[in-house]
Amino acid sequence: MKLHPLVEAAARGELPPWARAEESRREHMARVAGLMEAWARGLGLDVPEVTRWRAAAFLHDVLRDAPVKELEAQAPPEFRRLEGRILHGPVAARRLREVEGVADQPLLDAVAFHTLGHPEFGELGRALFAADFLDPGRPEDDGWRQSLRERMPDERGAVARAVLRARIGHSLEVERLLRPETVAYWNVLVEEAGRG
Ligand SMILES: [Fe+2]
Ligand SMILES: [Fe+2]
Repeated sequence: MKLHPLVEAAARGELPPWARAEESRREHMARVAGLMEAWARGLGLDVPEVTRWRAAAFLHDVLRDAPVKELEAQAPPEFRRLEGRILHGPVAARRLREVEGVADQPLLDAVAFHTLGHPEFGELGRALFAADFLDPGRPEDDGWRQSLRERMPDERGAVARAVLRARIGHSLEVERLLRPETVAYWNVLVEEAGRG
C-alpha cells in the first residue's frame, strides 16, 4: 500500500499544522508510538505496516487539545451527542479523510474510535486502543499496566480484554453511558476467546 505523505510524516513524529496537541500530549503520542512500533515488529509486520502503526499513534490525539466548541462544530453527525472529550478522535479522522485525502480506513477507524473501541477494529485499531491505555508515562502507571505491556503482542487477546474491562469498569463506577460500539467490542473479544 502506498502511504499518504501525511501518514509518513506522522510516523516520524511530524504532525500536520492544524494539530492541537500540547507538549505533554506529544510526549504521550511518542510513547504510544514506541509501544505500537515494538508490537508491530513483534508481530513480524513489514516496514510500511510499522509506519502505519506509528502514524496512528501520532495522529490519535492530534486534536486532543482543541477547544470543545470547535470539536462539536466539526463532529460527524453520528457523534454529535457524545461528550466533548470523546470527539477529538472522530473529528481528527474526519479531517484526515475529507480534507487531507487519507483513504486508509482501518487507520482512520483506529483514530476515530480510540476512546470508545469498535467491534470491527483490525489489529491496528485494537493495538492502538491498548497502547493508549498502557502508555508507560501515565501518572497512574503501576505494576499491573507493566505486566500487561510485557504480555504484548503475543497475548493481545487477553490484554485487549483486560484493558477494555478496566475502561468499562471505570465507566460503570462513574455512571457514564456505555456506547454500543464499546459493548459490541467487548462481545467480539469475549466470543473470540470462546467465552460467549
Ligand atoms: Fe485520545
Ligand atoms: Fe491518547
